[in-house]
Amino acid sequence: MKKFIIGTIVTVFVLIVAISVQQGLLFAKPLPYDDEQKGLDSQITIHLSHVVAENTPKGQAANKFAELVEEKTNGKVKVHVYSNSSLFNDENEFQALQKGDVEMIIPTFSKMTAYVPNWQVLDLPYLFNTDEEVQEVLTGSIGEQLVKELEPFHIKGLGFWYNGFKHLTSVDQPIHTFEDLQGLRIRTMPSKILEKQFEAMKATPIPLSFSEVFTDLEKNAIDAQENTASNIYSKGFYKVQKHMTITQHGILGYAVLMNETFWNSLPVKIQHQLISAMKETTEWQFEQAILMNEKDMEKLKQQADFTVYTMSPSERQRFKEQLAPVYDFYKTHIQNDHVLSKIEKIVTP
Ligand code: SIN
Repeated sequence: MKKFIIGTIVTVFVLIVAISVQQGLLFAKPLPYDDEQKGLDSQITIHLSHVVAENTPKGQAANKFAELVEEKTNGKVKVHVYSNSSLFNDENEFQALQKGDVEMIIPTFSKMTAYVPNWQVLDLPYLFNTDEEVQEVLTGSIGEQLVKELEPFHIKGLGFWYNGFKHLTSVDQPIHTFEDLQGLRIRTMPSKILEKQFEAMKATPIPLSFSEVFTDLEKNAIDAQENTASNIYSKGFYKVQKHMTITQHGILGYAVLMNETFWNSLPVKIQHQLISAMKETTEWQFEQAILMNEKDMEKLKQQADFTVYTMSPSERQRFKEQLAPVYDFYKTHIQNDHVLSKIEKIVTP
């Protein structure tokens, strides 16, 4: 009996050792390790917060970026996109990024002008005439120069994205002439140049978070606002206003920002993959933004109880002339206005 028990124990032990050797659990050598591999074995998560709907140029670009990052990193990096201010809103997203509470945000460049005053140039009214001019500026050497201005904030700027040209919408009275704006309370993004623009129109600028615009229009706390067709359509602003005037008086675009500490913690190989995903998304998103704004403009034109009026060329010229003081303000406050002269060389006068 004793012999039988000892024999069984020995057999079980031999079996365990044999299985462990076969499965590589015993005598397994550690994998060779080098800097290239550092961090590659663990999953990296990027939380990306933005304030607009998913079916917008920014919303779609954020999703495309997430898709390309996952593809290019073979699933090592996952980008979780939070749309519609569901994680952070206009008022707290930049602080959240600086503190590292979120890894990526995509604010409008207008909302960043309090930190980066030279970006005010992009808010100047009637500076650009075509989407192509905007693309050349935002994705070329001028864009690179503007992104460098983020360095003192320890924020990694990945580049600029585009939405489109802004137009005016109003609750009660249509805007056909410059004088129609007089006395209106107009929602604006927090940007000195945009405030000056509305003051030059003798209107009252009301800085407000994007997430509050619909409600404030609905309860008549504001009379008008400026935005792109895609934002007006996707946020349903046409449901709480009666009029839209195609003015094409300014542009709406975005800075794609990442927390610098997080960026620096990434393996170099992953950084290159993210830059490649960003480049590809940027090219794709300029085309998509233009198409989406065209489609949404058509949808807006079909809405009942909502009229879309195109401003006449002569009135457009009057607007441009009346808004000259905004340029004077820019030139006196931004001493270093070499960016404006560089842009003026690209755009058609
Ligand atoms: C956005 O497109 O991110 C919002 C624009 C706005 O605040 O009007």
